[in-house]
Amino acid sequence: MAMQDHLDTLRTRAIAELAIATDLRAIQGWERTFLGPKGELTAFLRGLGSMTVEERPLAGRSANALKGELTTAFDARRAELAAADLEHRLVGDAVDVTLPGRKPLVGIEHPVSRMIDELSEIFALLGFQTVFGPEVETGHYNFDLLNIPSDHPARDVWDTIHVETDGAEIVLRTHTSPMQARTMEQTEPPVRVVVPGRTYRYEAQDASHEWMFHQLEGLAVDERITMADLKGVLRELARQLFGPERRIRFRCDFFPFVEPGVDFAVDCAICAGKGCRVCKQTGWLEMGGAGMVHPKVLEGVGYDPQRYSGFAFGLGIERMVMMRYGVDDLRAFAGNDLRFLQQFART
Ligand code: FA5
Repeated sequence: MAMQDHLDTLRTRAIAELAIATDLRAIQGWERTFLGPKGELTAFLRGLGSMTVEERPLAGRSANALKGELTTAFDARRAELAAADLEHRLVGDAVDVTLPGRKPLVGIEHPVSRMIDELSEIFALLGFQTVFGPEVETGHYNFDLLNIPSDHPARDVWDTIHVETDGAEIVLRTHTSPMQARTMEQTEPPVRVVVPGRTYRYEAQDASHEWMFHQLEGLAVDERITMADLKGVLRELARQLFGPERRIRFRCDFFPFVEPGVDFAVDCAICAGKGCRVCKQTGWLEMGGAGMVHPKVLEGVGYDPQRYSGFAFGLGIERMVMMRYGVDDLRAFAGNDLRFLQQFART
């Protein structure tokens, strides 16, 4: 009966181990141990040959019966585990159709870009074309043609960032004014252009100064252009941007490329000129420089100053956005803080 005992023990172990196989991998291991070609039951069946002729039929029958029993138990257990596994995965992958969708992140236009678009539209209505110019400039356009020769002390006023070159003076443009000469060289009067774009200065940063900022240049050249035209255009700009009751102020200022030269300010829209944090209690916000194009600049591009006159202005674009929205630190514009930028999302 040793043979029967052996099979009984095998059966007990196999049934017990099958019960504790809790995943598909575990029962594959079980199958190898008991039913596989190198498994224990197969080994037993192979051993039949060495038994006596009397023992052999009974042992064979018992072993085959056990093989059938274990195969059935194995199939049932495998089906059970497969069903549980499928259910688990279905639950795990389930989509709750009642959940609200995830909002995709939508970028917004930078407030400076938006101001540039707005300025272009206003100036288009006033008859000005928007053009763009290079940010890397030559000293010739950035200074010489603007009546700032290399030995002129005014050249130092612009804290210039130089681009390293062998000999030639190449700079990051310190203002958008070099586009005055570039435009006039390309065309005959009448000229009416605005030039928005980046400008660079080797400057310490503070709440109202950046080393990179944006300007909008304006230039109009024609016969009989006067300072009254300049004033009218800038007043219209101030009112379009900041409201119909805005006032503007011109004070004498010096720029080598205009004569006379002025600085241009708008009364503060936040406090209506009474004085507040944004205008630093002065009631006025300086927007930029302006004036009548210097005869030397006209001559430099081959225009006859006896026949033509013109006005030019250069405005700080960040300043305008600051005034419009009451922003008190210019460094926020290039600071890359999404919390600041998202406030400008259109609703
Ligand atoms: C000029 O750059 C002249 N090219 C303007 C001009 C054009 C005068 C045509 C006459 C005729 P100014 O350096 O003042 O001028 O700069 C003009 C405006 O740019 C300033 O009023 C200010 O609004 C802005 N700005 C100047 N420097 C900075 C800076 N570091 N950071 C931010 N804005 C600046």
